[in-house]
Amino acid sequence: MCGIVGYLGDRNVYEVLINGLKRLEYRGYDSAGLALVAPGGEIKIYKSKGKVSNLEAYCSGKDLTSRVGIAHTRWATHGEPSDCNAHPHYSEDGNLALVHNGTIENYQLLKEALQQHGCKFHTETDTEVLVQLVEHIRVTNNCTTLEALQAALKQVIGAFAVAVVEKNNPDMVLAARRSSPLVIGIGDGEYFLGSDGTPFVEYTSKVVYVKDDEIAVMERNKPLKLVNLDNVEKKIDVKKLQLSIAQLEKGGYPHFMLKEIFEQPITMRDCIRGRVVEGGSRVILNGVMDNKDKFLNCNRIIIVACGTSWHAALLGKQLIQDMCRIPVEVEYASEFRYSHPVITDRDVVIAVSQSGETADTLAAIQIARSKGAFVYGVSNVVGASIPRETDSGTYIHVGPEIGVASTKAFTGQVLVFTMIALSVAQYKGTLTTEQVKAVGEYLMRIPQLVKETLKLNDKIRNLSLIYTYARNFLYLGRGYSYPVALEGALKLKEISYIHAEGYPAAEMKHGPIALIDSEMPTVIVAPKDHLYEKIVSNVQQVKSRGGSIIAIVTKGDTTIRELADHVLEVPSVPECLTPLITSIPLQLLSYYIAINKGKDVDMPRNLAKSVTVE
Ligand code: F6R
Repeated sequence: MCGIVGYLGDRNVYEVLINGLKRLEYRGYDSAGLALVAPGGEIKIYKSKGKVSNLEAYCSGKDLTSRVGIAHTRWATHGEPSDCNAHPHYSEDGNLALVHNGTIENYQLLKEALQQHGCKFHTETDTEVLVQLVEHIRVTNNCTTLEALQAALKQVIGAFAVAVVEKNNPDMVLAARRSSPLVIGIGDGEYFLGSDGTPFVEYTSKVVYVKDDEIAVMERNKPLKLVNLDNVEKKIDVKKLQLSIAQLEKGGYPHFMLKEIFEQPITMRDCIRGRVVEGGSRVILNGVMDNKDKFLNCNRIIIVACGTSWHAALLGKQLIQDMCRIPVEVEYASEFRYSHPVITDRDVVIAVSQSGETADTLAAIQIARSKGAFVYGVSNVVGASIPRETDSGTYIHVGPEIGVASTKAFTGQVLVFTMIALSVAQYKGTLTTEQVKAVGEYLMRIPQLVKETLKLNDKIRNLSLIYTYARNFLYLGRGYSYPVALEGALKLKEISYIHAEGYPAAEMKHGPIALIDSEMPTVIVAPKDHLYEKIVSNVQQVKSRGGSIIAIVTKGDTTIRELADHVLEVPSVPECLTPLITSIPLQLLSYYIAINKGKDVDMPRNLAKSVTVE
C-alpha cells in the first residue's frame, strides 16, 4: 500500500528511483512521483496520475541531474488519485519534500492547528500536513530537520513510513516508520531505501529493517545512524536480503499472475522441502517443535488473517481440528482487533499473512500478545513485520508474489497449515505414524499432481470464453471445498470485476438459490470426499433451475459429468489435500476471464498488494 524508494549516492538517481518504483508498483499504482535534489540543493518534484510509466513519460527530456532523491507510488487514502495529490509533497517554503506510506489519523486536527499559524494547503492529503508540520516545527524552533521530524512524529497518530529530503541539507535522507515497512540498503558509499528490498536487489544485499519509531539518518560519506524519537541511538542490525532479480521478473509469462500460478509445483516443493521427511512419515516444523508445549497445552487456537489468507485460515481450522482435535476459531483480523476479544495465556494465536505487513493482522497480533497468548506467524516475506512481531512461526517460502491477486501464497499457506496440523498431531498422538504417512506421502507428491492439474490450462482458456460476459457467478463447495469456493470467487471479482459469491453448497437453498437462472453460472468444487453424495444433490438443485454448471471433479467422476455443463477433472488425493489441487483450475479460470475482458490482472483497479492501512 504505497511504495517508497530513496537513493543517495553517485549513480543516476532518477534511474534508480524509476526502476525501483516499477518494482514497487504492486503496492499501489494510482499515481507516482519523485523528488530530485539537484547538486546545488534545489528540489525538483515530478508527479503524474496513473502508473509509473506515465511518470516516466512525463520526466522524459527533463533535466534530472541529482545526487539524492525520493520517490513514491501511491494507493490513495486521502484525496482522489491526481497529479496534485500524488507524492512527494513539499513544505510551502520549498525546503522539504516528503513521501509517505500509511495514514495519519489525526491529520485534520494537525491541519487546523497549522492553518491557525498561517499554513496554506494545496492538496487533500494527510501527507502534506506532515511535511508542513515538520517544517513549521523546524522554523519556529530553529532546530534541525531531524529534531523537527522527531517532534512531529510524536504528535502523529497512525501508521507511516516516510522519507524526507531537504534543500538546506542536500546530502541527507531521513526515513522513519511506525507500522509500515521500511528497509535501508547499504552499498559502497551509497544508501538505498525501499518499502521492501525489491527496488535495490541488484545493488546490495546488505539491509537494515527500520523498526517502529526509529529514524534512519543517511548522509553522504557518513555511516548510517538510527535514532528513536527521543534521539537515543539504536543498534544497527545488518541482515542479508534474501531475494534474487530472477524472482522479480516474468520469466517469459505475459503476467506475474500466470507465472505464479505455473510456479506452484516448484513453490510447493520449496515449501515442504526438509519439512516432510522419512518418506512422509514425519513432519518437522522447527517453530512447532520448539514450542510444542504451547500447542499441546493450549485451550484453543485462534487464527487471524485477511482476504485470501483468511481463506487459508479456514482450511487451517479444518486441518487442525480434524488432525489434532484442538478447537480452532478463525477471525478476520480487522474484526478481531475491535471485538474486545477474550484471550488468555492458554490460547495460541496464529497470524497468517503473505506480505507480513497487513495492518489489521499486525494489530491483532499486538492485542493477542498483550493478553499473554503465544503468537505464531505464517508468512512469506522474510524479515517483514509479522514474523518479527510473533513469538515463532513458519515461512511459506514461495518466493516474492508480485501479482496482486494471491495464488502461490495461498497454496503455500495451506501447505503450512497441513504441516502444522500433521506435526502437532504426531506430538499429540491424535494421528498414528501410519496416518501421518498416509497424508505425508501424498504431500510429497502434491507438486507433481499440481503440475498435472496445470495441464487443464488450454481447456480452461477455451472455457473462459463462454463465460467472459457473465455478470454474476456463484461458487459452491462443502467441507474442505467451501474455503476453496470462497477463494475462487474472490479471485474472479478481484481481477475481472465480475460479481461472484462463494457459498457453502448446502446453504444455497436458504437464499442464494433464488439467484439461479440461465444467466448465472455456478462453479461447484466437488472432489470425491465424504460429502460427495451431498454435493451431487446440490448440483442437481442448480441444474433443475436452469443454471449452468462448471464442476471441479476428481478424475473419472461420471455422476457429475452427466449433470454439469463442463467438468474439470483433477487428480485424486486424500480429502484434506484437495484444496491444494482444486484451487488451481479456479485460479486459471479467473485469470483467463479477466484477460478476455482486457483487464490488468497484475494490477487490478483499487487494489494493492500489501495493505498497510486500516
Ligand atoms: C487476494 C489478496 C488479499 C490478501 C489480503 C491479506 O488475492 O491478495 O485478499 O490476501 O490483503 O494480505 P496478506 O496475506 O499480505 O496479509
